[in-house]
Amino acid sequence: MNIEEIIQKLYDKIKLVDDKGHLASYIPELENVNSESFGVHISTLNNLNFGVGNCYDKFSIQSIVKVLSLIMAYSLLGEKLWNRVKVEPSGTAFNSLIQLEVENGIPRNPFINAGALVIADILLSHLNKPKEDFLGFVKKLSDSKEIGYSARIATSEKNVGYRNAALCNLIKSFENIENEPSEVLDFYYNLCSLEMSCEGLSKLFLFLANDGFTLVDNKQILTRSQTKRINAIMQTCGFYDESGEFAFKVGLPGKSGVGGGIVAVHPKHYAIAVWSPKLNKKGNSYKGIRFLEDFTTETEISIF
Ligand code: DON
Repeated sequence: MNIEEIIQKLYDKIKLVDDKGHLASYIPELENVNSESFGVHISTLNNLNFGVGNCYDKFSIQSIVKVLSLIMAYSLLGEKLWNRVKVEPSGTAFNSLIQLEVENGIPRNPFINAGALVIADILLSHLNKPKEDFLGFVKKLSDSKEIGYSARIATSEKNVGYRNAALCNLIKSFENIENEPSEVLDFYYNLCSLEMSCEGLSKLFLFLANDGFTLVDNKQILTRSQTKRINAIMQTCGFYDESGEFAFKVGLPGKSGVGGGIVAVHPKHYAIAVWSPKLNKKGNSYKGIRFLEDFTTETEISIF
């Protein structure tokens, strides 16, 4: 069976599986979605682009954006970045406050909310027009014209963002946030509100399979070493306290979001994006993980 046939077969199978997940109701607008949506899209370095189901529908990418904001901050600051955020798996939930107090406001990694808030703060300090500049950076990574913020989702999250506000203020008290917490939070909610489709995501993330060079114009975004490091952080921290299990079941670097999206990268081969909005208890797409587990099992290729 070729890749397209495997994807179609697994899609047909997993679409019928009883979904044990639930929509991310803590952000009210995220419940405004067809919970049965299911899409998959793969983009490979040898020019295969193939998708099934709702692969062209845009959805809220939420924490998947944390990879892109990290990459922009890394390309601006270089290795100095790691003075403000570490690269260890947290073993705690994405929005946990527990480690921050004992670890003096230095977040464990850039993908938990605490780390992503520090990255948002860094971007705020370095960009003239943070929202426009970040969107421009993301648009440069692929030929996708479809990327944009959702004011509706950002406002919805801002209205209930008590926990992120607590995280941001706690980090500020340790002097690891430079800007006003309200500004950092506003920027962070906008980042998380970005909307893209599985097709857009798999095309965009393909540069991480391509040693840091974009596919559209062969532009180098990260060095080879930096690209390895971003993939390594996705491998070890991309699924919060389910990162070990994702490595065990799927065996690829990846990143999830509470909108139900997952993107995974096979260095030197492909990027694949899956969307199914119902989440498991750890906040990761139930069917998304099921699909990717079966996909690397059937294709018998993973980074291990
Ligand atoms: O800050 C939040 O809670 C959300 N904007 C993002 C969390 C998220 O996507 C975690 N991913 N699984």
